[in-house]
Amino acid sequence: MAQAGVDRAVIASGLPQPRNFAHNLYPFRASSHFLFLVGLPLEAAVLDIGPDHEALYRDPPDPQATLWTGPEPALDELADRLKLDVFPLEDLQPGADTACTPPPDALSTWWLSELLDRALEPAHGAPQSEADARLAAALIEVRLQHDAAALEQMRQAAAVTRRAHEAGMRALPACATEYEVLAVMEAEIRRAGMLSAYQPIVTCRGEVLHNESYENALAPGDLLLADVGAETREGWAADVTRTSPVSGRFSPTQRDVYEVVLEAQRTAIEQVRPGVRYRDVHLSAMGTVTLGLRDLGILRGSEEQLLRAGAASVFFPHGVGHLLGLDVHDMEDLGDAAGYPPGRQRDDSPATRYLRLDRDLSPGMVVTIEPGFYQVVGLLASARADAALSASIDFDRLAEFSDVRGIRIEDDVLVTDDGPELLTGEVPKSVRDIEALCRQ
Ligand code: GLY
Ligand code: MN
Ligand code: MN
Repeated sequence: MAQAGVDRAVIASGLPQPRNFAHNLYPFRASSHFLFLVGLPLEAAVLDIGPDHEALYRDPPDPQATLWTGPEPALDELADRLKLDVFPLEDLQPGADTACTPPPDALSTWWLSELLDRALEPAHGAPQSEADARLAAALIEVRLQHDAAALEQMRQAAAVTRRAHEAGMRALPACATEYEVLAVMEAEIRRAGMLSAYQPIVTCRGEVLHNESYENALAPGDLLLADVGAETREGWAADVTRTSPVSGRFSPTQRDVYEVVLEAQRTAIEQVRPGVRYRDVHLSAMGTVTLGLRDLGILRGSEEQLLRAGAASVFFPHGVGHLLGLDVHDMEDLGDAAGYPPGRQRDDSPATRYLRLDRDLSPGMVVTIEPGFYQVVGLLASARADAALSASIDFDRLAEFSDVRGIRIEDDVLVTDDGPELLTGEVPKSVRDIEALCRQ
């Protein structure tokens, strides 16, 4: 900390969030920075790190609350367990420029603001003081590359995620609605004592990128896009997407586009190596999608023209992936500071504007690789109205692919000196393996 230019910092775990009334609470999820440093999901606790001290602050258990929420560890028990000094919150004496990582929600922000006697805004990514920026940089440095214990956790999350996807594929032909598939997949995660690392996406409308409704009825010609990942009790995530045919068989058009996306993913994964710039991995996936869609007759023109026009980004409008760790988009509470190193920032071109990561890869980093193909009505309408893009797309040919609304294929990849290591490589992915499971 001191080497990073941070004299004093407070890392808060946050408060549980009420749902409609005060005693109906959403499940508590501690701040990932707190989990990383303390290892326990304690509500309303702060870790105080100074030049020559480190202590945890938390209110002692309220004897009355045991009636409702059971016994909580006494402060001295916590101190024993964590090998830290533990004091009541009222003893916290922050300095004038104590750094913090502002929480993302208003309630925890208000609480921390009172504790630190410092005006804070809920985190929107930008650091709120020079000291906060230095603290963010120090946390990024320690969280960017994962150690063996963290990787073991991520492997456990990946193993359970595999079971969830396999169960979903097996159940798919007998399911009439999206929520039935969701139930089967989440049951596997719950059965393992884990929770979803993020709101699952299980939909036959995969072109709505953050589709979080599960109401649609499934029809035999649909594709089901399932973006579902487990989180271990300690908070480490997996993030996996598979796209499967509801009938158990991809149609020829679905299969053709699926193979394009799969090839883009395969070649991108191959490049996940130390020293490679992640933006280049993204551009390579974009290039493979460009050529694949041209081979299918959906795009037309020279490779150079198509890349210049950003034609593939009409169908693959998001970045090829992001950092993964304790957060599914790891450390995104710090804005782009984790994904983009000093000196790099997002540009506004259609091919890269949603790219969440542009670091040079190094061993121990875990990234997702998740190219896709989507027919988004709004993007297609804009493309029709744009001279260069409309010349690049054969809309008549595209109409033959109307049963391909949304495809994404997503895996979690560890960067090692020996090349990419797929943490989620066991989740069925080839047309053959998916069809075999969906038809059982
Ligand atoms: N599940 C969120 C994402 O894939 O980025
Ligand atoms: Mn992802
Ligand atoms: Mn995902």
